[in-house]
Amino acid sequence: MSTMVIYATKRGSSELYAKTFAQKNKYQIIKQEQASSEELAKADEVYYFGSVYAGKVLGLEELKKKLTGNNRLTILSVGLTAVEDQEKLAEIREGVSKVFPQASFYHLRGRLIKQQLNMPEKIILKMISKSSKKKSLQEKMEIEKAIEQAVDEGSVDCIDLSELEKIG
Ligand SMILES: Cc1cc2nc3c(=O)[nH]c(=O)nc-3n(C[C@H](O)[C@H](O)[C@H](O)COP(=O)(O)O)c2cc1C
Repeated sequence: MSTMVIYATKRGSSELYAKTFAQKNKYQIIKQEQASSEELAKADEVYYFGSVYAGKVLGLEELKKKLTGNNRLTILSVGLTAVEDQEKLAEIREGVSKVFPQASFYHLRGRLIKQQLNMPEKIILKMISKSSKKKSLQEKMEIEKAIEQAVDEGSVDCIDLSELEKIG
């Protein structure tokens, strides 16, 4: 059986998870933009690591166009949302199941380095951090705590490669 790992990233978190997973299992790995439908058609099994921006996993529509539907698909979203942030996680999961109702789904936590962001992104995060600061600790979602940390300290790293052991 042939298995392929695909990833879609802006700043490397999904790539790190995908590469670690592929290396450990000796699977072929390709960046989403470079994966052709011909190549994907040869895979029985596909693991797709995609970063979450504004509640959506990157590149799902593009992936949909390239897959024939014969592959067993697992989608792994990578974002600052934590499992405890049930509503946020449900939103990500819903977006995935709209495009791929049959796919298995896992969520992994990513990282954020303020220096790597563009100006509109910095502004969005600053706004989120500002409104999060008005909440009590109990009210705050984990993603809000992480964004506050990135804004105040310059970065936040929630990557946990050991989470990959749960996948399979
Ligand atoms: C503008 C912006 C929007 C984001 N929106 C979300 C989001 O809706 N949900 C989430 O879990 N993480 C969100 N994140 C956090 C990213 O998913 C996280 O930084 C991830 O590790 C980025 O992956 P990459 O390094 O592979 O690009 C956002 C980050 C930025 C900069």
